[in-house]
Amino acid sequence: MTLSRKKIDEYYMRRALSLALRGTERTSPNPLVGCVVVRDGAVLAEGWHACCGELHAERAALNCLESAEGATLYVNLEPCSHFGRTPPCAPLIVEKGVRRVVVGMIDPDERVSGRGIALLREAGLDVESGVLEAECRLLNRGFLRKVRLGRPWVTLKGAVGLDGAMALPSGESKWITSEGARAFAHLLRAEHDAVLVGAGTVRADDPELTVRSAWGRSPLRVLLDSMLSVSPGAKILGPSCVVFSSESASSERVAAVGASGASVVRVPRKEGGLSLGAVLSELVRRGVCRLLVEGGPSVVSSFLKEGVADALSLFLAPRLMGQGKTFTNGLSFSCMRETLSLRECGVKRAGEDFLLEGVLACSPDL
Ligand SMILES: NC(=O)c1ccc[n+]([C@@H]2O[C@H](COP(=O)([O-])OP(=O)(O)OC[C@H]3O[C@@H](n4cnc5c(N)ncnc54)[C@H](OP(=O)(O)O)[C@@H]3O)[C@@H](O)[C@H]2O)c1
Repeated sequence: MTLSRKKIDEYYMRRALSLALRGTERTSPNPLVGCVVVRDGAVLAEGWHACCGELHAERAALNCLESAEGATLYVNLEPCSHFGRTPPCAPLIVEKGVRRVVVGMIDPDERVSGRGIALLREAGLDVESGVLEAECRLLNRGFLRKVRLGRPWVTLKGAVGLDGAMALPSGESKWITSEGARAFAHLLRAEHDAVLVGAGTVRADDPELTVRSAWGRSPLRVLLDSMLSVSPGAKILGPSCVVFSSESASSERVAAVGASGASVVRVPRKEGGLSLGAVLSELVRRGVCRLLVEGGPSVVSSFLKEGVADALSLFLAPRLMGQGKTFTNGLSFSCMRETLSLRECGVKRAGEDFLLEGVLACSPDL
């Protein structure tokens, strides 16, 4: 049986996507990119962007070859045509003799945006774009949000009982879910560039917010604390922590928090708390493309109210908790039409609990 060219292109694009994933945790603020060079049904070389500042995927693959004469190159993101931290890839593809280039998606970065493909076509190469485009966009959702909206891709994470409570009326929330689910949650942290909580959660739980029960690096820790009211000994504080406060926090409190190694950034206050727009812009400036919001209910509700949340990762424990603080305590709707629904929903087992994941229907298209 002979496979159609479309099927072959999709097969190698899937391979490029899986190679791209090897850069997870290390490429931000750059995108995840994988590349496969194929000739006569044989893979000549593979490469991926391993770390921000290091070789781009196309260069990593082509550097293994003296010549790629007559080959097809598969890459999930348009090859660049400009000098950034590294030299441009499109001229190298031409120089190595590649005949056909299959691209997953056009680079939204305005320094590239179609210019890489134009350069290849002008040099006489056959270029096909948009192969597995939806998958390619999803893989680089953080990068796309950063370039298009100037904010990270935001996932809201919580652990709730079946009746929606995130904590008992006393504030107790340890532990709603099983050890297995908590290990899963650590894996989720490792996939993000930063993890954010509000001052209420630090006061109630004093979380470390590091990755301990799974393999992976700990992300940047972010705290919203208008008056810098948390204890200077709070576990979240330290060199890889940014604390957002308002202009009204005293310089003594700034010094006390700063002594832990954490940096303090003052942002404007709005109704309901610190300006999330200002917080998200600063996080992007610090290279954060994917943000995990770990609560509590006030912070989760603020992200939803301001329309700056994209996805949900909700751990559901098979447990009834009665009255308590629900996941979206601060939200209230007057009719069903206003409620927030999810698309692309999936449920999987996480230890003795369930993990429900989905994209908010109100999240802008990628
Ligand atoms: N089950 C779970 O997954 C889970 C996860 C996290 C927390 N929890 C539970 O949730 C409870 C704490 O919830 P919470 O709602 O009190 O705390 P929270 O959402 O963590 O923090 C709220 C505080 O953050 C500060 N803040 C600054 N800017 C904000 C903004 N734009 N929007 C909202 N808040 C902003 C405010 O304090 P300032 O005015 O002082 O700045 C606010 O009072 C605890 O019982 C904890 O155990 C459960």
